[in-house]
Amino acid sequence: MGDAREARQLLASARAWLEELGEEGIETLPRLQEAAAEVSPAPSQLEPATAEERPLQTLDPATGWGDTVSLEDVRERLGDCRRCRLCEARSRIVFGDGNPDADLMFVGEGPGADEDAQGLPFVGRAGQLLTGMIEKGLEIPRSQVYICNIVKCRPPKNRAPQSDEAQTCREFLDGQIAAVKPRVIVSLGKPAASLLLGREVYITRLRGQWQQYRDIPVMPTLHPAFVLRQYTAENRRNVWNDLKQALERSRAQ
Ligand code: URA
Repeated sequence: MGDAREARQLLASARAWLEELGEEGIETLPRLQEAAAEVSPAPSQLEPATAEERPLQTLDPATGWGDTVSLEDVRERLGDCRRCRLCEARSRIVFGDGNPDADLMFVGEGPGADEDAQGLPFVGRAGQLLTGMIEKGLEIPRSQVYICNIVKCRPPKNRAPQSDEAQTCREFLDGQIAAVKPRVIVSLGKPAASLLLGREVYITRLRGQWQQYRDIPVMPTLHPAFVLRQYTAENRRNVWNDLKQALERSRAQ
């Protein structure tokens, strides 16, 4: 009985709808399959997931990156970047290297000649010193940490990145930090510490003192290239102490 009443109601509303269409001058309707195809695209036409199916992301209003962003997403957005003048002389973009889930992240200044040639950060002389400090000093493989720079293209003649270049590239450093979610960041040298802390710092005075970038503890230390230039026992001891503290904090509960 209930079924028959439902069917009658359905028929009545279909008739009313058809009459409305007629009043609007619509005399033919597409076949059901065609209509369905218009409404719902074939699975191959769909985005990886519909908006409802995609995991909800919380966007950080300060950086514009979602909390589920990956390093691949950030690299993809960077693309074949031509956003600033540093693209003109670069051979390769030097994005970053290491563990995408690292607890410890190192942020340097910008690629040098070796990095530009190989497309990897910290592989030249300063990089060898940094790698030695990580592997022989901290006794962890370099592949366990994540390493990147504030700018992804080599500044001409290895000059320091200019502030507009660092600001333009900052979106991608922010993305890398959002993707890796390190427990501790070690900033190497003055430009990296100044960018992360949002003020010009005197690195020889600030080094060794805990700072904060958003909610992440930052240990500012000397740049390995500076240590190479001033290879004193004091500089080496200071950097060693800074790195030890950073590792311990990254392991603390
Ligand atoms: N110096 C940096 O700051 N970064 C590198 O990748 C290499 C040298």
